[in-house]
Amino acid sequence: MGEWFTASAPGKFVILGEHSVVYGKPAVTLAVDLRMTVAVRRSGWNTMNGERLDFRRQPHLRYLTRDLRHAIDVLTYSEIPVGSGMGSSAALSAAMALAISTMEGDSLSEEEIMLEAYDAEFYAQGNGSPMDASTSVHGGGISINMPEPHGRHLWDVERNGRRWSFNDLSVPEMTFVIGNTGIRAPTGPQVDKVQRYMERNHFAREVIDDIERVTIEGGKALMRRDLVSLGKCMTEDHKLLSILGVSCDALNKLVNASLPYSYGAKLTGSGGGGCMVALTDEPEKVCEAIISRGGTPYVVRTGGPGAMMEPNPPDKTGLKR
Ligand code: PMV
Repeated sequence: MGEWFTASAPGKFVILGEHSVVYGKPAVTLAVDLRMTVAVRRSGWNTMNGERLDFRRQPHLRYLTRDLRHAIDVLTYSEIPVGSGMGSSAALSAAMALAISTMEGDSLSEEEIMLEAYDAEFYAQGNGSPMDASTSVHGGGISINMPEPHGRHLWDVERNGRRWSFNDLSVPEMTFVIGNTGIRAPTGPQVDKVQRYMERNHFAREVIDDIERVTIEGGKALMRRDLVSLGKCMTEDHKLLSILGVSCDALNKLVNASLPYSYGAKLTGSGGGGCMVALTDEPEKVCEAIISRGGTPYVVRTGGPGAMMEPNPPDKTGLKR
């Protein structure tokens, strides 16, 4: 048995632009203070949280361990609700990529860790953009394919004829409340569904173009600290995502309950369940509204650090054993 290597990476939410970003359109995301922590060590056979590691159920881990000449023990601990549009899977890939590369003595750049995490997600899911992996690895705020971005250029990624350009985005103090419907909705099938609409239906392509317009408008509002206009764009984005067929009753209920106390509210991530997000100055009222409709609220702090090594050995971090 080797020494443990522990890393963590944040979850995220999408302020604007999910689904359309898959087609190379702009998006704006923020990392949150809910994190995925992963510990790895060399081992005699592959285990995950004390049980045999089943690579059929964890294809991204199969990808991330493809070059290892030894088996590993993996321990995970997630503060991020799983399968809920908050990027738990990309956070697992990001933290694993960092922990494994450190264990192997490879010093990878932030961009290389991001690509490893994105490739693992792509291998497991076969679709999707590098948005989640980039946000989880870099942390903070990220703008993607925005015209005239304000922050430092991070990296470009090209895949299947699509291109995404990532910039760091410093954001003003804002309060966001996440509302979890408790309905698990994996990303892959939602992305596939939109792709089928896009192939068959020019109306779906027009909705994606409308999401692009609202995302650019909202992104500009964010950069000039205009929360009223940003909120309006978020609510409009939710309507467009609903027309696209990726919302659901439970999400619409939480969004509608939050709106009287918010600048704006929308689903976040791939939809079909999972989470919504509200931009608000009245977080307590939004939390009450979400609870009254059966959801679980989280007041999140945004802009925290990306993937990083953790000093604690796993027995001190509360990881499953
Ligand atoms: O549901 P999540 O957290 O995996 O977010 C998915 C975001 C999409 O735009 C729908 C897909 C993607 O890969 O960008």
